[in-house]
Amino acid sequence: MKKLYIQTYGCQMNQYDSERIARLLGREGYAAAARAEEADLILLNTCSVRDKAEQKVYSALGRWRELKENKPGLIIAVGGCVAQQEGEALLRRAPYVDLVVGTQNIHKLGEMVREVETLHRRPAELAFYRDPSYMEDGEGAPRVQGAMAYVTIMQGCNKVCSFCIVPYVRGRELSRPSGKILAEIGQLVRDGVKEIMLLGQNVNSYGKTAAGDLSFPELLRRINVIEGLERIRFTTSHPEDLSPELIEAYATLEKLCEHLHLPVQSGSDSVLTRMRRGYTREKYLEKIRRLRERCPKVSLTTDIIVGFPGETDEEFAATLEILERVEYDEIYAFSYSPRPHTLAGKLYLDDVPEEVKKRRLERVLNRQGEISLRRNRKKIGEIEEILIEGPAKLRDGQIMGRTRSHKIVNAAGSEALAGKLAAVRITAASPNSLLGELAAAQ
Ligand code: SAH
Ligand code: F3S
Repeated sequence: MKKLYIQTYGCQMNQYDSERIARLLGREGYAAAARAEEADLILLNTCSVRDKAEQKVYSALGRWRELKENKPGLIIAVGGCVAQQEGEALLRRAPYVDLVVGTQNIHKLGEMVREVETLHRRPAELAFYRDPSYMEDGEGAPRVQGAMAYVTIMQGCNKVCSFCIVPYVRGRELSRPSGKILAEIGQLVRDGVKEIMLLGQNVNSYGKTAAGDLSFPELLRRINVIEGLERIRFTTSHPEDLSPELIEAYATLEKLCEHLHLPVQSGSDSVLTRMRRGYTREKYLEKIRRLRERCPKVSLTTDIIVGFPGETDEEFAATLEILERVEYDEIYAFSYSPRPHTLAGKLYLDDVPEEVKKRRLERVLNRQGEISLRRNRKKIGEIEEILIEGPAKLRDGQIMGRTRSHKIVNAAGSEALAGKLAAVRITAASPNSLLGELAAAQ
């Protein structure tokens, strides 16, 4: 049997796509290889959201070029956001790359690989579609290992955040029909999945566009009644689409986990305007207040960009301040990186010096470290439910699981508990995780 090695960079959507690719190429006779050196086909699933992610692609390709020199039949394929962004230029720039598959063309991959194998062509498929059927494979749900699974419910983004390349590489918003989504989740649950993460670049605008026949809160209600499913999560949401109905879902749907990732990007109104985020600091805070009123236990995480063009010390101070105001549980913080096609890339100079960006990044992370520790310490003594994922990183004899609020808990226990829900008593806290004692597993 031929062997396939997939390297995945970037977000959960890419991970979901890679699982789909493995399944589709499985039908073409490719089995998973443990290492790139053993593979007959290497596929790089790429991310271009920041320049660093893009650079990683070219260094990985450089390494594989050497492999190919010793193994001429090796097929090198590039997918994901860099593939979509660079298109045929990638084939010109990297003559050892055999095929380029854009973000909406995964369904064509089998055919493309055959084209390389038999006709020795170098295909590139980069079309965007108006019909969401490109997300379907016409065959049951993806087979997954473990108790957690991703399910893409929509793709693309119709927003125009000035820093963001996603709309250009993932296309316009398209929702999958609810029937397909519910069938996929039903199959996953029959295969043993207990927790699902619904994915979309702008997941809470599900249903606003063609084929999305339900609203997002209605879709959640339908998923909530699937027997055997225990937990529902979703990512990533835009604050503007956090509707009163969605807030109500947190108060009423018992399977919807008490966690929301709601990127704020900046605490400063002037920066938010330049970013074209479509909300003010006050509007954002008001939504958080309403959500906490209806779901007091909700944990909140966010994305922050520091060093956006023109960001002054005062504007940056407003970001530090909003971290305190909201008291996030965790943040993902990035230095601004100008991206092709984007409005900010065209309109503004990347004028915040690298050392200033670096210092601001350290400051937000340090400040958040204190807040996270403070919040995590409040959990000490409480009983929490975790879904056990497997052995803890770097700690022998311990397992790791996540609470409904998405916090990592490590506890002494056997790996055989992986995939089980368990009650733990929290005994200690650090900024990034909790320590607990297992009470009971089911
Ligand atoms: N809604 C999307 C967000 C995509 S990008 C999703 O599917 O998750 C994820 C995060 O990367 C953004 O929230 C933002 O904080 C950060 N980001 C996006 N473009 C960036 C850029 N040009 N420079 C730095 N960070 C960026
Ligand atoms: Fe990007 Fe803004 Fe959409 S961050 S994915 S353009 S909501």
